[in-house]
Amino acid sequence: MADDLQSRRAVFASVGAGGLALAISACSGGGTDTTANTTPDAGTPESSAPQSGAPESSAPAADGGGALAKTADIPVGGGTVFKDQKIVVTQPTEGEFKAFSALCTHKGCPVGSVEEGAIVCPCHGSKFAIADGSVTGGPADKPLAAQEIKVDGDQIMLA
Ligand code: FES
Repeated sequence: MADDLQSRRAVFASVGAGGLALAISACSGGGTDTTANTTPDAGTPESSAPQSGAPESSAPAADGGGALAKTADIPVGGGTVFKDQKIVVTQPTEGEFKAFSALCTHKGCPVGSVEEGAIVCPCHGSKFAIADGSVTGGPADKPLAAQEIKVDGDQIMLA
């Protein structure tokens, strides 16, 4: 009898221990699932790609072969500043074209415009005569350097 009792206790003990072990493992197994509840940001909107298919602009070069301007582009008694070429072309009298460096002799600013018969530097207000580039108003004290041009028909070209 005593042996039966002991064996039954041993069975209960082992079942109890096993049950406890099962319960622990079940709890720990179920408890590790908490990280799966995060919702991913799957809603990233599809951004429209920038349009890179702009047509190539193939505007004809204005100075193909050295042509700077047309004579009609230069007003009589005035002039036009060509910033890219750093040249100002003037037409003091009809049919007479002159060209000068567009860099002011005061501090080297590019001249900005031709107004009332004078080439005007916007930096400090120097003025130069359209006929010969001489200083008509300071602070510059040297004339604009003359530039060689050729007039062929209605085309003005750099010489
Ligand atoms: Fe032209 Fe001074 S740089 S006026």
